[in-house]
Amino acid sequence: MNPVRVRAMIIGMLGLGAFLAATQLGYSEDPKPAAARAYKPVQPIHEMMEGQKKLFGEIKDGLLDKQWNKASQSAWILAEVANANSYQHEAADYRDWAAKMAQDCVTLAQNLKKKDEAGAKEMVTKVGQTCQACHDKYQK
Ligand code: HEC
Repeated sequence: MNPVRVRAMIIGMLGLGAFLAATQLGYSEDPKPAAARAYKPVQPIHEMMEGQKKLFGEIKDGLLDKQWNKASQSAWILAEVANANSYQHEAADYRDWAAKMAQDCVTLAQNLKKKDEAGAKEMVTKVGQTCQACHDKYQK
């Protein structure tokens, strides 16, 4: 292709890019910043808990089988589900337990990634205690 046509093509593409960027910037379905939007989990508590049980099981199995990456991935997902769980209830103790579980799952995921077996076991115990603490008060 001759250099003039190549240059014309490049300029054309840059123009298209700028046009797309401008229309994207101007377009917003929800102008509110993230902080002003209330978070609402899509999962009902029952389904969320079934998921937590599944993930916690995967983590414990992965730890036994030394499947560190798999177990770590499940721990990261469980951390996010626990984070979402903190929005399922207004009570401060409920939110605190869910948030604590989320943080402990982050540490757990990191320990698993490092193949720190003792550290991971310690966090599994802590997470299990938090499941229990919240259930003692809120599971009917
Ligand atoms: C911050 C509170 C909280 C934490 C932490 C928590 N749960 Fe739950 N869980 C609940 C509530 C509330 C229910 C009852 C749900 C209902 O009645 O629909 C429940 C119920 C359950 C159930 C029974 C299913 C059902 O809906 O009846 C399972 C299984 C379960 N949780 C697993 C876990 C596991 C595993 C953990 C920890 C890894 C955990 N939960 C941590 C609040 C919590």
